[in-house]
Amino acid sequence: MTEHSASSTPYHPVIGIDLGTSSCTTSVWDGAKLIVIPGPDGSPTMPAVVGQNAAGRIVVGRPSMSDALPQIDGIKRDLGTDERLRLRGRHYRPPEICAFLLIELKRQAEAFLGGSVHDAVITVSGSAGEPQRRAIREAAGLAQLNLRRLLDDPVAAAMALGADDREWTYAIYDLGGGTFDTAIVRVGPEGVAVLGAAGDPQLGGDDFDEHIVGYVLRQIRERHHVDLSRDEDVRRRIRREAELRKRELSTTETTVLELPLLTATVSATVPLSRRAFEAMIEADVTKTLGYLTAALAAAELEHRIVRRGVDQVLLAGGSTRIPSIRERLTDYFGLGPDGIRADIDPAELNARGAGLIAREYEPALTFEGSRPGLLGANLRLRAEMADPNPAAALGEPDPPDLLPGVPAETPADFRPVTVATRDLLATARDGGRASLRAAYLAFVGAIQAAAPDRRLTELGEALSAAYDSAQLP
Ligand SMILES: Nc1ncnc2c1ncn2[C@@H]1O[C@H](COP(=O)(O)OP(=O)(O)OP(=O)(O)O)[C@@H](O)[C@H]1O
Ligand SMILES: [Mg+2]
Repeated sequence: MTEHSASSTPYHPVIGIDLGTSSCTTSVWDGAKLIVIPGPDGSPTMPAVVGQNAAGRIVVGRPSMSDALPQIDGIKRDLGTDERLRLRGRHYRPPEICAFLLIELKRQAEAFLGGSVHDAVITVSGSAGEPQRRAIREAAGLAQLNLRRLLDDPVAAAMALGADDREWTYAIYDLGGGTFDTAIVRVGPEGVAVLGAAGDPQLGGDDFDEHIVGYVLRQIRERHHVDLSRDEDVRRRIRREAELRKRELSTTETTVLELPLLTATVSATVPLSRRAFEAMIEADVTKTLGYLTAALAAAELEHRIVRRGVDQVLLAGGSTRIPSIRERLTDYFGLGPDGIRADIDPAELNARGAGLIAREYEPALTFEGSRPGLLGANLRLRAEMADPNPAAALGEPDPPDLLPGVPAETPADFRPVTVATRDLLATARDGGRASLRAAYLAFVGAIQAAAPDRRLTELGEALSAAYDSAQLP
């Protein structure tokens, strides 16, 4: 095991993150085994939700109880697009929303490990394109994490199985909330080799929820003669209930969606059977088997692996809890029930694989990104987040002599970097920070002179850049 100076804990402080559409999971090597880091509520997974609280602060990982407060879920689906997402009355780019998730996961990991974390291995859907990968790299930088490796989901899942002294051929079937990945992999003493892969970055449990929403809306139209399909709040309420009842149907044969007072005049009670639900998702499941066939074809072409050569099917992703999916897979491969492997919690599998890979990297002493403005951007995002620990909020230390204090009117976006700069200048003895000092004085001077916004933004950005370069060794 590697020694590290960040803390005296036994942990190897390079974390593995499974960045999912619906939830995120983090794992770490504790010196003897891999463990999944629990969130503040003790849960192993954090909902991939970024919302705003009543005070206008960003809250991460806690679905909002109030429909009146905006929240963004499933950001993974938007990574690599030009989508703009609205929160706190402003627009965010997808990597910024993703960065909020990573900042929170890093914070939770640091609280758990009792030391700093600067490095991570993050999973990405095997079918993700370059724009999506680039967006995750950017998000990691915004979260001040050194991204050691972007790990394809199927490789992560196969890694989690651990090595054996013989070679196994697995078909990995990973159906999560928003993406489907499948791969034929060979795992042996030499490691993991992907023989063929296919997938769909826009197919998962969220689509199943949408099918139920469509069904419920049709029922309401027939019974109440109203079309609520354009009402976003109504859709959101039905979707939430649909997701809950869908999970129930993995263990029961029937359920009922209870939707009181969707509008002032419409309440709905909609029974749903497992059979009816399975019929709704049938076409989607058939589509996944098509991808599986494509992955097998690639494995056959390049490595002469055929369907019968697959030893076991490895299930990953929450949606593989749906019984009909398991049945279709056993039929497809002609395997007995033992042919399906689901002994490792499908929700933790990929995070465990990422954690095992993370263990191979040396922890860094600091964040190594050097793009100008990155730290300033990180500080701005962090300043927008609700403080999980108010006692540790940014303080206002005494102004150092001759250096003007941070004006009360400092724009919120630049407040953290301004405070951090003043602290840094107050302790700098070497006089070697002349350009940072100049940037600070220019910015503070402009605020005091009530300069126009555009000028303030320019000078604030210049200060962020100067602060970033002052941090470089
Ligand atoms: N018991 C269950 N039955 C059916 N579906 C379930 C069950 N439990 C969870 N799910 C569904 O699994 C999905 C979440 O799975 P998971 O956490 O693996 O996804 P993710 O990793 O966040 O997403 P992705 O890998 O697609 O980016 C959700 O759509 C959820 O509704
Ligand atoms: Mg996943």
